[in-house]
Amino acid sequence: MSTQTSGLAIETAGLVKTFGETRAVDGVDLAVPAGTVYGVLGPNGAGKTTTVKMLATLLRPDGGEAHVFGHDVVREADRVRGRVSLTGQYASVDEDLTGTENLVLLGRLLGHGKKAARGRAAQLLEAFGLTEAAGKQVKHYSGGMRRRIDIAASIFNTPELLFLDEPTTGLDPRSRNQVWDIVRAVVAQGTTVLLTTQYLDEADQLASRIAVIDQGRVIAEGTKGELKASVGAGSVHLRVRDAAQRPLAADVLRRTLGADVQPDPDPVALTARLGTAADAGTASEQAARALTELAGAGVTVDDFSLGQPSLDEVFLALTGHDTRTADDPKDEVAA
Ligand SMILES: Nc1ncnc2c1ncn2[C@@H]1O[C@H](COP(=O)(O)OP(=O)(O)OP(=O)(O)O)[C@@H](O)[C@H]1O
Ligand SMILES: [Mg+2]
Repeated sequence: MSTQTSGLAIETAGLVKTFGETRAVDGVDLAVPAGTVYGVLGPNGAGKTTTVKMLATLLRPDGGEAHVFGHDVVREADRVRGRVSLTGQYASVDEDLTGTENLVLLGRLLGHGKKAARGRAAQLLEAFGLTEAAGKQVKHYSGGMRRRIDIAASIFNTPELLFLDEPTTGLDPRSRNQVWDIVRAVVAQGTTVLLTTQYLDEADQLASRIAVIDQGRVIAEGTKGELKASVGAGSVHLRVRDAAQRPLAADVLRRTLGADVQPDPDPVALTARLGTAADAGTASEQAARALTELAGAGVTVDDFSLGQPSLDEVFLALTGHDTRTADDPKDEVAA
């Protein structure tokens, strides 16, 4: 397979991992450009963690190949390990130590002198908004602080490739935003990030390309725009002044655009998924027609917007089911 000159941080072909009868990863092909955030999006049990573990050399594939910066993850596992970091892998964060003590200890273990280790620890704690908590034992950290110190530890030595396996699962919106800022900062330093997530908005926020995986297979891959475009022209969201006029508005949109109209929980709002028929016209043409027809029918519209399909709609269209699956989320511990 190609080397680093291909500009790919990760390249896999037909990657397979089975656990007994379960084909956890069932022939995955990935091409992750260096220097970007690549999102692997999928529901519980899709095979995200298993894929990441094979790429990080923690699990041996049962079939196919994977190269990281041109190195085979099986035959050249040592060379791969020298260039990657997995949140949690080196971060044997000790609950009884403080944030500072943990990072300094890690720095020493990685071979840094005392002064350099302290300097880098202070820099990371500052960058991750943990300066105030630096002297507290990690067992007293909140979930968001804990996640941040885990990521800080995983980038003590700036890795060329960082695996972040569901970095924000279970975090509140503020902590998620902090982790997102950290990811952006890490990438700005030149690190490639492979991010797994169950959150469509997270992939949308951070990743330049996204692979959607379901039951061990890549079911779609591309830029956000490509994924959304493959699903439909977009959606029109509107709010009518009077809830009593909503059925009429829905009827007009169905009739004139052939749109799939869904009422929102809000009684004055509705969403119309625009059709993709060849003669339907562009999304903006359809939207213009909708406004004219609604006005002609006497519907007073207070709010009208045209948007690309959400990633939720993408997932539904690709898999025929939504992103919530029957199984309970597992308590995933990054290895
Ligand atoms: N060590 C294991 N032994 C047996 N089965 C496993 C093992 N690890 C994973 N599996 C199974 O492989 C499939 C994929 O699991 P994986 O953990 O890769 O999914 P995931 O996409 O990371 O899910 P989640 O979002 O819940 O973390 C699941 O059916 C899971 O039960
Ligand atoms: Mg997982």
